Amino acid sequence: MTTETQSTEERTQKLEGLGTRRKRVEDVRFTQGKGNYIDDFKLSGMLFGAFVRSPYGHARVKSINKEGALALPGVRAVLTAEDLKPLKLHWMPTLAGDVQAVLADEKVLFQGQEVAFVVAEDRYVAADAVDLVEVEYEDLPALVDPNQSMAAAALVLRDDLQGKTSGAHGPRKHHNHIFTWEVGDAEGTARAISDAQVVATERIVYQRVHPCPLETCGCVASMDKVNGHLTVWGTFQAPHAVRTVASLISGIPEHKIRIVSPDIGGGFGNKVGVYPGYICSIVGSIVLGVPVKWVEDRMENLQATAFARDYHMSGEIAATQDGRVTALRVHVLADHGAFDACADPTKYPAGFFSICTGSYDIPVAHVTVEGVYTNKAPGGVAYRCSFRVTEASYFIERMIDVLARKLDMDPAEVRRRNLIRKEQFPYTSALGWEYDSGDYLTALDKALNTVGYASLRDEQRRNREAFARGETRKLMGIGVSFFTEIVGAGPIKNCDILGLGMFDSCEIRVHPTGSVIARLGTISQGQGHATTFAQILASELGIPAENITVEEGDTDTAPYGLGTYGSRSTPVAGAATAMAGRKIRAKAQMIAAHLLEVHDDDLEWDVDRFRVKGVPELSKTMTELAFAAYNNVPPGMEPGLEAVSYYDPPNMTYPFGAYVCVVDVDVDSGVTEIRRFYALDDCGTRINPMIIEGQVHGGLTEALAIAMGQEMAYDASGNLTNASLLDFFLPTAVETPSWETDFTTTPSPHHPIGAKGVGESPNVGGVSAFSNAVIDAFAHLGLTHTQMPHDHWRVWKTAEGLGLTPA
Ligand code: CDP
Repeated sequence: MTTETQSTEERTQKLEGLGTRRKRVEDVRFTQGKGNYIDDFKLSGMLFGAFVRSPYGHARVKSINKEGALALPGVRAVLTAEDLKPLKLHWMPTLAGDVQAVLADEKVLFQGQEVAFVVAEDRYVAADAVDLVEVEYEDLPALVDPNQSMAAAALVLRDDLQGKTSGAHGPRKHHNHIFTWEVGDAEGTARAISDAQVVATERIVYQRVHPCPLETCGCVASMDKVNGHLTVWGTFQAPHAVRTVASLISGIPEHKIRIVSPDIGGGFGNKVGVYPGYICSIVGSIVLGVPVKWVEDRMENLQATAFARDYHMSGEIAATQDGRVTALRVHVLADHGAFDACADPTKYPAGFFSICTGSYDIPVAHVTVEGVYTNKAPGGVAYRCSFRVTEASYFIERMIDVLARKLDMDPAEVRRRNLIRKEQFPYTSALGWEYDSGDYLTALDKALNTVGYASLRDEQRRNREAFARGETRKLMGIGVSFFTEIVGAGPIKNCDILGLGMFDSCEIRVHPTGSVIARLGTISQGQGHATTFAQILASELGIPAENITVEEGDTDTAPYGLGTYGSRSTPVAGAATAMAGRKIRAKAQMIAAHLLEVHDDDLEWDVDRFRVKGVPELSKTMTELAFAAYNNVPPGMEPGLEAVSYYDPPNMTYPFGAYVCVVDVDVDSGVTEIRRFYALDDCGTRINPMIIEGQVHGGLTEALAIAMGQEMAYDASGNLTNASLLDFFLPTAVETPSWETDFTTTPSPHHPIGAKGVGESPNVGGVSAFSNAVIDAFAHLGLTHTQMPHDHWRVWKTAEGLGLTPA
C-alpha cells in the first residue's frame, strides 16, 4: 500500500505537466555560456575550410589557379569542381528534385556562389588563402527580374538543363522555367469572378527575405578511415534526413554515418537544406584523413544560404455588395534563384500555398504558381513558416483589406462576414484542405473587444480630421489580420521529402528508479523541446518533468524522424511522445494489476499512480511500477519499461489567430511607430504558456523585420546590395515594441493531447497585420496597397505620392 501525504493538486503541480509555465531547462547552460555549438567543437588535428566565392551574379569561370594559395604555409588543400568530378560530387541533388553545383562547374549563377574550397590549419590561414586563389571570370549579363525570366530572348541560365523539357514537377515550357503548379476549379472560379457584383484585383509582392539565425550554418566532418565511419556534427534541422542523403550521395553505408546536431542557434528554415559546405568538409576529411570544420560568416550566410519568399502574386477576389466573398483567384510567379532548392514536401512545389483561402468560407478558388530561375541565391525555405503559408496568409489578408476598401466596409467586418463558422469544422476548403478545428468568431471578437476596436476607429476618425486641419503630421493606422496556419506535416500519404515519409518519433526508457530518458526525431533550435516534451510525458506518465531528460539530434541514438521546421515538432513528434508515453502507461497498468492482485480493468489512473477502483487506498505509483518492471512483472511479460512510437499524423493541425496592430505614421519622415500590437493565438492545448509567449514574441519580431524593413535587394548585375547586417534590417531591442499576447483554446480533435503547432504562427499572422496597419493609415486617401517592406523611405515616398509632404 502506498501512503499518501500530498493532495491531488500538490501531486499534479509537482509533475510540472501540461499547461505549466515551467522554466526552460535549456537555459541553465545557455545563460552560463555552456552551450555546445558547432564553433565550440575542437577535435584533434582539425583543419578549417573556407570558400572562394563568386563576386559576379553571372559569369563563366575560365580558369582557377590554386598555386598561390597552395604555397601559403598551413594550406593543406584547395578543392575545385574538377577535384570533385571523379567522386561525382561536383553537383548535388536539392530537396526540390533539381541539382545544384557544389563548386562552380564552368559557370557561376549567383553572387556568393561557391567556387573553390580551401582547407588550412587554421581559420585565418584559410581566409588568407581564399584571397590567393586566382579565378578568371568572363562576366555575363545577369537576369534578376523574374518577370523577365521567361521572355523569348531571356538569357539561358542553366546550361546543364538545356533541352530538358520536363523537370521534377512536370513539363518545362522555357529554358528558365522550373514548373507550373495548379490547383482548384479554374472554370468555376472564372465564372464566379465574371458573374460577381464586385471584383477587387491587386498585385502583391512578398519580397525576398532571409531567415538570419543568430548562429550561421556550419559543420565538422570527421572520417575515421580505419573503421569507415563518418561523423558529421552540424547545424542540421533534420539530422536523420541528412544521414540518408549523405549515404545516398557518398555511397558510405548509412549505418556507418553518424549525424549529430548539437545546440543550434536558431534555424527558421535556413538549416533545413544541404549546402556545399557540408559536402566539401566531408570530402576534405576523407581526402586529408583529419576532421574538417566549416563555419560560414554572417555575410556568407546572407548571400548564399537559403532565402525565403520572393513570391509575385496577382490576385482577384470576387464578392457580393454586402461583402460575402464568392471566389478567389491568384497567379504566382515564384523566383527560385539559380537552383531549385526549395524545401517543400515532394508533391507540393509551391508548398502549402493553396491554404490561401485563409480563414474564410470561400466557395471556389483557383491557384497557379510558376517557378522560374534567376541569377540569385537558391532557397525558398519556410522562414518561420510552414511551406509558403506566410506568403498565402499575407496574400489573403491583404486581399481582404483591398476588398474592404472597394466595398467601403470596415476590414474587420468583412472578415467577420466570411470567417468559417465553428459548426462547419472539420471544414474542407475550396482548394482541398481539411481544417481540423476552429472557433474563429470567438477569437475575432475577443481580439476586437480587448483592443477596443470601435474606439480605436473613432480615434482614427478624429486623427484624420486633425491631420486635415493641419494639427498633426501623424496618421494613425489600424491593421487587422485573421490567419489560419497549416502545420505538422505528414501525413505520409501526402507528405514526403526525397521519398522519406514525414512521420516523427519518440523512444522512451523508464529507468528502475523512475527517471526517464526520451529521445525524439526532432531537434530544437531554441524552441525549448527539452522543457516541453518532458511536460507532455510528465502528464502522461505521472513522473515529474524534472526526472525526464529529453534528447534529440544524434542519429546514433534518436529514433528516425524528419526533423524540426514548419511548426511540426509538437503536432508530430509531440504526438509520438504522448503515444509512446501511453504504451509505457499501459504496460505499467498490467504490472500494477499484477502487484495489487486485481484485473487491469479494476484500476484507474490518478495523476501519478494506479488505484484500485472503489478501494482508493490500494495503489501503486509510477515510481514503484518502474522498479517492479525490472524485478516483478506478470508471468510471460518481458521485463523493462521502454516504448517507441513512430507517429504518422492523420491530418495536419490548423492553428489560427487574430492580430491587431496600431501604428502612427509620421508623413514627414516616413517613420512608423508601432503603438500597440495585440496577438491572440489559438494553438489548441497549450503545453507551456510561457514558451508559447516566447515563441510569439520572437515570431512577431521577425514579422516586424519583414514587414518594416527586410528585403534582399539585387541590382541589375546580380549584386546583392545589402549583404551585411549594416544594410539588412535585423531588429534589435531598440526597434522592437512590446507585444500583448492572448489566447483561445480549440484543441485539435486528432492530436493525442489536442495540441497544434505555434512557432510559425506569429510570422504568418504578424506580417499582414503590420502591413495592413501601415496601408490603413493612408486608406482614407484612396491607397489600397503598397509593396513591403514599409521602411521609412518607402513610407515617405507613399506619403509624397499622395501629396502629403511639402513641395
Ligand atoms: O517545430 P517547432 O518546435 O519549431 O514548433 P512548435 O511545435 O510550434 O513548438 C514550439 C515550442 O512551443 C515547443 O517547445 C513546443 O512544445 C511549444 N508549444 C506548446 O507549448 N504548446 C503548443 N500547443 C504548441 C507548441
